Amino acid sequence: MLHFPEGFRWGSATAAHQIEGNNVNTDWWAREHAPGTTIAEPSGDACDSYHRFREDMQILADVGLGTYRFSLEWARIEPEKGFVSRAELDHYRRMVDTARELGIEPMVTLHHFTIPRWFDAEGGWFAPDAVDRFTRFTESVLPVLDGVELICTINEPNMVAMFAGDDSAPTEPATLQAFGQPAPNPRVADVLLAAHRSAREVLAAAGPFRSGWTVATQDFQPEPGCEELTRAYGYPRDAWFLEAARGDDWVGVQAYTRTKIGPDGPLPIPADAEKTLTGWEYYPRALEDGVRLAHAMAPGVPVFVTENGIATADDSRRIAYTRGALTGLHAAMADGIQVEGYLYWSLLDNYEWGSFAPTFGLVAVDRRTFLRTAKPSSRWLGEVARANALESSA
Ligand code: BGC
Repeated sequence: MLHFPEGFRWGSATAAHQIEGNNVNTDWWAREHAPGTTIAEPSGDACDSYHRFREDMQILADVGLGTYRFSLEWARIEPEKGFVSRAELDHYRRMVDTARELGIEPMVTLHHFTIPRWFDAEGGWFAPDAVDRFTRFTESVLPVLDGVELICTINEPNMVAMFAGDDSAPTEPATLQAFGQPAPNPRVADVLLAAHRSAREVLAAAGPFRSGWTVATQDFQPEPGCEELTRAYGYPRDAWFLEAARGDDWVGVQAYTRTKIGPDGPLPIPADAEKTLTGWEYYPRALEDGVRLAHAMAPGVPVFVTENGIATADDSRRIAYTRGALTGLHAAMADGIQVEGYLYWSLLDNYEWGSFAPTFGLVAVDRRTFLRTAKPSSRWLGEVARANALESSA
């Protein structure tokens, strides 16, 4: 058996726009419905988790997973610049209270990709007062966060800065993989870091929160002779964001696959490699590599696996992938890297930024009836969590 340390947290993660439904005030909703959009499918009702969050948390509790990471929707809380909806604050407060009632520890993300339309119209992260707007938003949600220990300020700032494109041309994200994407916009990266630090200051002054941000680690791997090139390619794309977490309370690692780097940059996935429903290479070891990189870039900062998972229609591959990822995670921890918890992405089959087709969920959702069906993988992960140990496959 591979044992995990006492107090290790097991759970699953979601994000508001991907599950709530009818998230009409976000930049994403606007883009989903813009004439000529390249987005394949709109988010629509998504999983209707805006109304069914209790049911979702109940499933999590029933299978034995004790931590739930979910995000607040800024566009609901502040639908117009400067107007903060008390009713929406109450809604998210109910989510925190419900989690607690069910014995679940909430981890709350303040920003997970979507922004209010008004903020988008003003330039989003390019807006001159972007840091100030995010700071005020953080202040406004303090009543929701009261008593919550773990706060994620910004989800995957490296992807957010990547999607920002250059200053003249925002990139429409076609895929969430780094392959073929531009490097993160350095100006936006700096703004996001300033926003992160400012939010952390607000939190530090308000309570005993433990905050951090979560980075999409890309597991860039060099072809022989391309070691230097790979370091230079990867640094602005993920390592910089991990390094910027020095001094934070924890740093989130979100790992899915790897990208090989040859003399001319990223290489396509070999034709014979197993691919997941997102078209990514099946590569469970990405988690161990991401955790080791986080530790190298931010030594001494505890790591939290805030996302790791696979889009597949074959639930037995989900179990195999997760088992592989956890085995690698355990190896990194055995080398002395402090890791506080593991959250599987995602709890539900959700809106994967343009399509419902890539199913990452531990739980299936009928898109017409919203009926939830827990998959065998949810029970398997719940058993691992209860045992706080993984049966080693060797
Ligand atoms: C994001 C999630 C996304 C997941 C799988 C991460 O980049 O934080 O929102 O659904 O990867 O694509």
